[in-house]
Amino acid sequence: MENFNKQLAEAFSTIKNKISKNYEVGVILGSGLGFFAKQIQVETEIPYEEIPNFPKSTVEGHSGKFVFGKVNGKQIVAMSGRNHFYEGYSIKQVVFGLKLMEKVGIKNLIVTNAAGGLNPRFKPGNLMIIDDCINFTFRNPLIGKNDEKEGPRFPDMSQPYSQELIKIAEEVSLETRVPTKKGVYLALTGPTYETASEVKMLQILGADAVGMSTVPETITCSHLGIKVLGISCITNLGTGISPHKLSHSEVSETANSVSENFSKLVTEIIGKI
Ligand code: HPA
Repeated sequence: MENFNKQLAEAFSTIKNKISKNYEVGVILGSGLGFFAKQIQVETEIPYEEIPNFPKSTVEGHSGKFVFGKVNGKQIVAMSGRNHFYEGYSIKQVVFGLKLMEKVGIKNLIVTNAAGGLNPRFKPGNLMIIDDCINFTFRNPLIGKNDEKEGPRFPDMSQPYSQELIKIAEEVSLETRVPTKKGVYLALTGPTYETASEVKMLQILGADAVGMSTVPETITCSHLGIKVLGISCITNLGTGISPHKLSHSEVSETANSVSENFSKLVTEIIGKI
């Protein structure tokens, strides 16, 4: 833990030298949703590989970057690319980037993801505002010694997603005519997609969408007192609901196809935070 905090402090000192402002809103861009970065009037970009101790990506090519700048009048920092547990990181390493965003001043987080639809009323391309989550990764980034200065040992999870931000998102959805659904997001570790029987089980458990991210970040924000808005892009229907095999290319293609609506929604929400 001490080591983790030392690593964070070292990483932050590199970032601090490259930025001169506070950034009040953080955005984490999910699989295939990186196009949102085009909405940012960029002030500074910092590739993760230039940040000491930032968990090294196991994915070939780009490891991702922080983008600092303005959207709709607000100072924001976006993570274009995030770390997933299935890549082999510890659950604490998964939230390393988020902990750095807290250090640059974020008070609100918009966390986005690509997810499989479990609710039979959902269709690929729907955007779902997350109103609760189920941690089916059975990992928790808060395990270990607690720092009372950061947050309580036993954080409340009665409202992991901010009702205030959900209200803003729903108002923006009406104003912009970008339709949204609302529902429960369930996280598994992945990297396999679900079996048809698992999908049936997850539906019985009360989940509307399933994915491989977002919950570790949400838990960390509950601890730190950062307000969270979660938005899932339903990129496909869950195994067995969907008549065909799932593939990552289907996920990316659907996410890309909603780029205009997704960008409009998130941009307008940021303006109202
Ligand atoms: N399952 C899990 N994660 C996902 C899915 C899915 O069907 N689609 C996009 N991410």
